[in-house]
Amino acid sequence: MDRSRPTFNRRVRATVTSPVSEVRAWVANSNSDHGYSLLDVSQAVPGYPPPTGLTEHLFRLDPAEVSRYGPVLGDPELRGALASDLSATYRGPVRPDQVAITAGANQAFCLALAVLCEPGDRIILPVPYYFNHDMWLSICGVKPDYLACSDGMLPSAEAAASLIDERTRAIVLVTPNNPTGAVYPPDLISRFARLATDRRLYLILDETYRDFRTTTEPAHGLFEDPDWDRSVIHIQSFSKVYSIPGFRVGGMAASPEILHEVDKAADCLTICPNRIGQEAARYGLAHLEPWVESNRHTLNRRVERFVAAMEDGPYSVVSAGGYFAYVRHPFDAMGSKEVARRLFDRLGVLSLAGEMFGPGQDRYLRLAFANLEDHQVNELARRLIADTESR
Ligand SMILES: Cc1ncc(COP(=O)(O)O)c(C=O)c1O
Repeated sequence: MDRSRPTFNRRVRATVTSPVSEVRAWVANSNSDHGYSLLDVSQAVPGYPPPTGLTEHLFRLDPAEVSRYGPVLGDPELRGALASDLSATYRGPVRPDQVAITAGANQAFCLALAVLCEPGDRIILPVPYYFNHDMWLSICGVKPDYLACSDGMLPSAEAAASLIDERTRAIVLVTPNNPTGAVYPPDLISRFARLATDRRLYLILDETYRDFRTTTEPAHGLFEDPDWDRSVIHIQSFSKVYSIPGFRVGGMAASPEILHEVDKAADCLTICPNRIGQEAARYGLAHLEPWVESNRHTLNRRVERFVAAMEDGPYSVVSAGGYFAYVRHPFDAMGSKEVARRLFDRLGVLSLAGEMFGPGQDRYLRLAFANLEDHQVNELARRLIADTESR
């Protein structure tokens, strides 16, 4: 009898382990005795809970109602509220039938890809990338064409144009960016949108961190074009803005034709987005603007504080914004994972290595400091400086 185990998908097996899980295992298996408390800047999570108004609202919900399945593309009230929010924020027309609610921005990306791509198709992905995007392409057998960022970690539409071939289906942009924190200027985003339209592609624009920019002016003018849905698929998250990552709720804006296809995939995956999460998002859109504004200021100040503290340090900040700083490490002879591991073992700083965000990133580390307190930001800077002093 053949006792070997049944085989399984080679593409999934070949896909990397999630970087956050990888470094969490360092913590679980650690026996370091350096005496430092853990400074965890590995995962992009808000360090504060949702406001009590939101949680009290959830306690008032009718359990008989929110425990039922809801519509596949989300509760109509929330789709309407998100459409109004997008229309007001970006000063352009977004209708409720152009909006779907998803199980977070990650699921929105996966659904977009399921609708657009067949195995062997290609996607243009700026590097450094958000690792889950690259992982999902790998799982789906979609080929990434990596687009190097330069000049403040910005991608160029002209360089992207040279990567397009007949199998290219979309270009992905993340702004404010994960991992670099770079905020793409509106005209750069417009150039990518024009390129997508001219070459009959989609621009998948992930704005998970849109509420953590330094301004409330529109991040771009894409929605001002009444025909925006011809080539734009917009992704957003409620996880960070309302501190509800565990509720799994995000959104996608796209053409009704795309959403018709999304409905099929979403029905198989989740049947409906989490109903309690949707209620939390609806409450947030209706009531939490001042709370969001105050968190935005706090995080912006934290970025400034960190950049200032690192000014003459040997770890140089190459870009920062939103939840992140992307720093260049000073060790010529060490790979980024080795540096990250060393920082954890010697100084209790848990970060992610540049190489986890794509090729050519070995000189960098990503520090996600949204879950730190202000005094811990100074402490983080002190430890990074101390690290190289003891080199
Ligand atoms: C760029 C980007 N997109 C999507 C996500 C996932 O967001 P959500 O919790 O809404 O799935 C994250 C979370 O870290 C992210 O950084």
